[in-house]
Amino acid sequence: MKRILKIFIALVLIYAVLIAYLNIANPKFSWDWSKKNVEDINFPKGFQWGTATAAHQVEGGHTNNNWYWWESQKDENGKPRIANNEKSGLAVDHWNRYPEDIHLMNDLGVNSYRFSLSWSKIMPGPNKFDTAAIQHYSDVIDSLKSNNIRPMITLHHFEEPLWFMQKGGFEQEENIRYYLAFVQKVFEAFGDRVEYWCTFNEINVYTSGAYMSGDFPPGKKDSRLAGTVLMNILKSHVKAYRLIKELPHGNQAKVGIVKNIFFFDPKNRLNALDWLGAYFANDNFNNSSLDFFETGEYRFVVPFEANVSYLDTNAPKTLDFIGLNFYSHYSTTLNLVNHDKMFSPVEGEEMSDMEDYTLYPEGIYRAIKRMSKLKVPIIITENGIADAKDDRRGKFIQRSLFAVSEAIKDGYDVRGYYYWSLMDNFEWNLGYSKKFGLYDVDLKTQKRTLREGSKKYEEIVKKFAN
Ligand code: BGC
Repeated sequence: MKRILKIFIALVLIYAVLIAYLNIANPKFSWDWSKKNVEDINFPKGFQWGTATAAHQVEGGHTNNNWYWWESQKDENGKPRIANNEKSGLAVDHWNRYPEDIHLMNDLGVNSYRFSLSWSKIMPGPNKFDTAAIQHYSDVIDSLKSNNIRPMITLHHFEEPLWFMQKGGFEQEENIRYYLAFVQKVFEAFGDRVEYWCTFNEINVYTSGAYMSGDFPPGKKDSRLAGTVLMNILKSHVKAYRLIKELPHGNQAKVGIVKNIFFFDPKNRLNALDWLGAYFANDNFNNSSLDFFETGEYRFVVPFEANVSYLDTNAPKTLDFIGLNFYSHYSTTLNLVNHDKMFSPVEGEEMSDMEDYTLYPEGIYRAIKRMSKLKVPIIITENGIADAKDDRRGKFIQRSLFAVSEAIKDGYDVRGYYYWSLMDNFEWNLGYSKKFGLYDVDLKTQKRTLREGSKKYEEIVKKFAN
């Protein structure tokens, strides 16, 4: 009996030491905003101030891509794949209204615009290019430049031709050549006028949405396949980087990739299983691709489901910058059977309109710090809030930019900030219900109106942009 008691006490002690160690080694990252002077901000000369959008979300007229197909699909229970059975349709008609939208950017005072090219519009077939679509983007670029707004192009923002998806997309390594043909074509067309290129947007969001949760097309639920797709995307990035550098104007181009950092924090800091869940989630979602660019080692692990690895020691040399998208963090627990049940909003924090995103503006500092391990310039390619009532946006902008300013003050190499998004748009599987726009868009009339809260962004941009 005494022995059992001793073993029990020893186990309790080991557990207590372990929990104490985890808490000390990974202190909770949160700021007491009442003690911060958020007006005290500063940004260097030449800082890139921008807004961001993506083709499928704003342009309208997509009838040949993975999302167009997805918008007509239903899940196993007969439920439409998009909330309220919405279709992107005309979206906010940015395809036709871009001149007006560029004026909206001018009104804000931004000096850069991040947008994506629609691969499906430019490449309607495996060996076919649409010259009118290429001309369209050429006109957009010229119009931006004549308004003193520097274009930043995203080559893949969750959108790809339906034919590409039907060929297996990035599940098949041999399909990388189609992506490279697209990259070559557009770089040859725009490389003389565009300096900043993002090869892919949010690689881990794309692979987990499309191959783990099944919320994005093609809607598969297969962790091993997710690991393979992510690996092939990383390989595509490396190849695209090299390809661009060899093309005319390639040596002037700055080529990077966009990674969304979403932190997974233990739900209960005294529960070892929650720490384990947070460890697995961070390792899978954040470290899998960040480590690849830090060391060349790719490791994608989902316990008992997937273990995909790959090594390319030259990978760290294929980034001229890294794009950071930051939105929030999750409270995490361990559930090896149903991964979706592992995550919930962090208790005690104010909510945005996204079902599980709390307001965590100081997290952007933490994300910059994490990303700085890569030792390349960081550009915040997306940060924003869904806030239909517009009663949190101004505060969110002020605090987020304070956190960015603090990071710069502490020596982190942050070169730009792009607000997501210029205007309301089609929020993927959530349809039009989420209002991320600086500009509200009336979907019936297409009228754009600057939201009150967005004026904070305008004010800060106008103070520091030059
Ligand atoms: C994506 C955007 C999206 C935004 C808000 C990012 O995950 O890049 O396309 O609209 O977050 O959810």
